[in-house]
Amino acid sequence: MKHDLITTADRRGDSSALGASAELGLAEFREIAVIMQREARIHLVESKLTLVHSRLSRRLREHGVSNFRDYVALVNRDEAERRAMVTALTTNHTHFFREAHHFDHLRSAVLPDLQARARAGRPVRIWSAGCSSGEEVYTIAMTIAGESHASAAWLRNGDVRLLATDIAPHVVASVAEGVYAESTVEPIPPAYRAHWVKPHEKGFIIADELRALVTPRVLNLFDHWPMKLQYDVIFCRNVMIYFDDAAKAELETKLIDMLAPGGHLYIGHSERLSARGIAKMFSAGQTIYGKIEGSAGQ
Ligand SMILES: C[S@@+](CC[C@H](N)C(=O)[O-])C[C@H]1O[C@@H](n2cnc3c(N)ncnc32)[C@H](O)[C@@H]1O
Repeated sequence: MKHDLITTADRRGDSSALGASAELGLAEFREIAVIMQREARIHLVESKLTLVHSRLSRRLREHGVSNFRDYVALVNRDEAERRAMVTALTTNHTHFFREAHHFDHLRSAVLPDLQARARAGRPVRIWSAGCSSGEEVYTIAMTIAGESHASAAWLRNGDVRLLATDIAPHVVASVAEGVYAESTVEPIPPAYRAHWVKPHEKGFIIADELRALVTPRVLNLFDHWPMKLQYDVIFCRNVMIYFDDAAKAELETKLIDMLAPGGHLYIGHSERLSARGIAKMFSAGQTIYGKIEGSAGQ
């Protein structure tokens, strides 16, 4: 095997599925990388060749395609397969209460203002951008609902909406379903679980009251954003790591534009805003930024 070629048969120890022809060479990898950059702005470096091979081998099998050259040709002529390839190459790792300090901050520093807004009859808008299967948006929902039904009364009486978007349709469908395995709901603190997580035939389901707050939507962050109101809180965590600097800068500008003055942006632990972005924000904690009142997006 050449060092830059991995075959499905090599990986599976099985020469029957696709035969030795299902090699992913650098030429096809580079074509795939160009398509990913164009379609989703996801930046694939050559060290991801093995990962790309392993994630796409199933797509080749599903189409009965025996080599990556033919698969790339299929992707180029078939929009549905292009979308399926983009989805297959997204990384959807997430969990409940990930980077817990963000939720401590949301509860102690932001929630009182959100409640005051809602009680004054003003809309409250929260966005989980790059939400994956919904653990992030439901962690936000539990955090603002609190540890009892009484503490969630402000949500029932106010105009409060949580938007959850991702480019990958299968994870957005999981958000809509709100059903999780026992091992997945384990990180949820017992006081929240007692109120907001119910037994379900397939594991556990997020309580209707919280699911009703959430609007799940498929959205490529580099397409047009249809939202009309600015957002009070945006979580865009562990998403920008997949983009190159130009895409990060573009997204950062759009996110800051979409944030209401005084609103908060939460980013992932290994992500940073650019100097240009930071100039419009104040630091509110580790990877937490508030939008300076009167600051425009540009
Ligand atoms: C690692 S997950 C992060 C999930 C969650 N935010 C968290 O921190 O736990 C990254 C998500 O970003 C999504 N994503 C990647 N590129 C995207 C794009 N161009 N538009 C929208 N979502 C994208 C992926 O599909 C994936 O579900």
